[in-house]
Amino acid sequence: MKNTYITKNHGETLRLAKSLGPYLKIGANLLVDGALAAGKTVFAKGLGEGLKIKATVKSPSYTLLCIYEGRLPFYHFDAYHLNNINDFYELGFDEYLKDGVVLIEWASVISDGFPGGYIHVEIEKGEAEDEREITFSATDDFHRDILEEWQRHEDSCL
Ligand SMILES: Nc1ncnc2c1ncn2[C@@H]1O[C@H](COP(=O)(O)OP(=O)(O)OP(=O)(O)O)[C@@H](O)[C@H]1O
Ligand SMILES: [Mg+2]
Repeated sequence: MKNTYITKNHGETLRLAKSLGPYLKIGANLLVDGALAAGKTVFAKGLGEGLKIKATVKSPSYTLLCIYEGRLPFYHFDAYHLNNINDFYELGFDEYLKDGVVLIEWASVISDGFPGGYIHVEIEKGEAEDEREITFSATDDFHRDILEEWQRHEDSCL
């Protein structure tokens, strides 16, 4: 299974994330990590397109959560301003898990104690200015199956 993809620009990250959208199921969690301006929100926008969300997916860094309706409900979180998983619970955010597709930016803040499996998406800057290395891994069979289905169908085109 291919784990790491190199994207050469913003558009390629959008396209990569969009291509995953059709394979997501209710209860899918994507925990996204990467430095400031790595491309976490760009990835979320692409995923939103892949979920057929018509609204523009924006960064929830101040609002903490944006909710969209597409093929499935899409819950887009930013954990940058949280301290740990307890804050996630205190804000009642766990109620959204299992109800749609969840994507969390700055996920390492809350991944310790996160209640459930997930796809970990790590975005690192590459050598060239606009290059990014995007690595996918799954923590359980449910999420592993999603990644494998996606890659079986999409590998020839990515
Ligand atoms: N290959 C690439 N993939 C994604 N974004 C890229 C790429 N190359 C350049 N960029 C640029 O990097 C920036 C990524 O911004 P984005 O808001 O997605 O980052 P972020 O990781 O969400 O940051 P923050 O930590 O502020 O939430 C955008 O300006 C985008 O155009
Ligand atoms: Mg962001």
